[in-house]
This record gives sequence, structure tokens and C-alpha cells, in this order.
Amino acid sequence: MIGKVSVIGSGHVGATAARGIANKELADVVLLDILDGVPQGKGLDMFEACPIEGSDARVLGTNDYADTTGSAVVVITAGLARKPGMSRDDLLQKNAGIIKAVTAEVVKYSPDSIIIPVTNPLDAMCQVVHRESGFPRERVVGMAGVLDSARMRSFIADALKVSVENTHAFVLGGHGDTMVPLPRYSTVAGIPITELLDQATIDAIVTRTAGGGAEIVKLLGTGSAFYAPGSAVVEMVEAILKDKKKILPCAVLLQGEYGIRDLFVGVPVKLGAGGAEQIIEIKLEAGEQAALDKSADAVRELVGVLGF
Ligand code: APR
Repeated sequence: MIGKVSVIGSGHVGATAARGIANKELADVVLLDILDGVPQGKGLDMFEACPIEGSDARVLGTNDYADTTGSAVVVITAGLARKPGMSRDDLLQKNAGIIKAVTAEVVKYSPDSIIIPVTNPLDAMCQVVHRESGFPRERVVGMAGVLDSARMRSFIADALKVSVENTHAFVLGGHGDTMVPLPRYSTVAGIPITELLDQATIDAIVTRTAGGGAEIVKLLGTGSAFYAPGSAVVEMVEAILKDKKKILPCAVLLQGEYGIRDLFVGVPVKLGAGGAEQIIEIKLEAGEQAALDKSADAVRELVGVLGF
């Protein structure tokens, strides 16, 4: 294969993303974890699936960052899940420590890579990666909006009984319950859903989208979503490796766009070989901007806990 993609963290999301990248033959994949044997076992299992999938991607599981050398893209899913008795801030500090250590290794072995942080709380973790890596903002692109908008697309398709392929959804803001799904910019075959659905149905879709992660956590009992997050990572990796210049909602460092500065927040970006090559600014109505500001405030508060 031409390129190499490393996935740090071989848990649910990391393994699902790695498998998607290998199955689609996008690149060779290195799956790294601190757990001994787990990335090696999962990596070998995925490699053995490749003949059936018709993919010549090589998959290697490892504990050694030297194996990630020269990766074009590095996906970071390493982290801890929130445990009973652990506060949100405890988790924030613990995961920030993990992400800092992981980023140092990523930069050492893949100084030209594009990093896709996935670990939650996503927007704050992007900030840690950006600061620790010293990478330009184009090369730190967080995965959240693709997942959130995919959830919204599923609900729209379900409500209207149309193909998911006809749907398009825009979700802005932080990856949390303050996220801002935008019905006016969400369409079916180019038609805004505000023309197709009544307000109550739209409100229900918006609420369900914002609570999409929590809905799955509740159903699973332990752990959080990983199929859709894994697919979202694969879409971003593909856009970068194929230089597709695809407009996707991602968490990027804003420098005045949307009136927000020095903060990672989800907005539409053009994703290509250079990473987040352009931030797309769309016109917001006053209510939408207020909701985005509120979401940005929630991210700023989290980042503040980290002392940034
Ligand atoms: N270096 C490498 N891997 C690590 C490290 C570290 N320092 N610390 C933890 N890990 C690994 C764990 O060993 C585990 O295999 O990260 C993996 C996390 O996997 P899961 O617990 O299965 O979590 P997952 O469901 O994959 O979610 C990962 O993505 O969507 C977010 O909220 C989610 O923050 C979470 C992350």
C-alpha cells in the first residue's frame, strides 16, 4: 500500500476504525495500544480478514511507536472511559494526560502527519493535541461532526422514509449536549428539511441528535458508541488520503471564524491532503449564532479546567 495510517488505542472505536480503513484498502494500518497482546491480536485478526475483503492493506498491531514511523494520518482513540465515582473533570484530566503523552510520541515518529483526535471530551482533547504537537491548525482535525451529522441524517431518513444517501445534515459546535444541529442547512435531495417536516418532528430530531451518544451509552450499559464513530473516522481518513476536498463538519481551531477565537469547535471544513484546508463560514441567524456561542462557552469552560 502507498500510505500508512496509525490508530492509537485498539479499543472499540480504534479497532472499528482500523478495520474500516483496512477493508477499504485506504492504507496500511498500525494499531497501537498500551495493552500487551490486544493490538497484536486484533491487528492479526484484521489482516487475516483482508483476503476475504479483497484488500491488500497490511495491518500490524503493536505496543511500539517506532512501528508508526512516517504515518500520513494518526487517529487518537486512546483514553479512559468514565467510571462510576469519577467526575467529568477527573476524566478530563486523566485523558488529557494520556493524550499529551500519546501526542509526544506521534510527533516524534510522524512529524508530518495529520492527527485526528477522537478521545472525549473531544474539543478539549483537540486543544491538548494542538498545543503538545505544535502542528499548524490544519493538521489537527477532530472527529465529532461527521458522527453527529450522520446520526441526524439517519433520523431524517427514517422520518421521511427516504434513502440516507439523499440526506445531508449540518451540526455545528462542541461535541456534547450543547451541539447545534442546523435544520435550515439540513436537506433531503437539496430541499431543506424545514420544508419537508413539521416543527415538532424537527425538534425531536434535533434533540435526539444532541443526545445521540447518551442514547447509545444507556442502551449498552457499559461503554459507548463505536460503529458510527469508527465509520466517521474512516470517512475523514479517506477524504485526506484521496485529497477529496470534501466538506465535512470537524473540530478545528477557530481564529475568529464564527466570532470564536483560539478554541476547537465543530464547523464545516474542506478536508484534503493538507488536512483542514479551509474553514467554511455559513451565515447564521441570531438564534443559531447564540446557540453556537453557548456551545463554544461550554468548550471554553472545559479547556479552562485544563489551565489553557
Ligand atoms: N496509549 C495507548 N492506548 C491507551 C493508552 C495510552 N496511554 N491509555 C489507554 N489506552 C487504550 C486502552 O488500553 C483501550 O484499549 O485506549 C483504548 C480505549 O478503548 P475503549 O476503552 O474501548 O474506548 P473506546 O470505546 O474505543 O473509546 C475511545 O473515543 O469516542 C471516544 O468517548 C470515547 O474517549 C473515548 C474514545
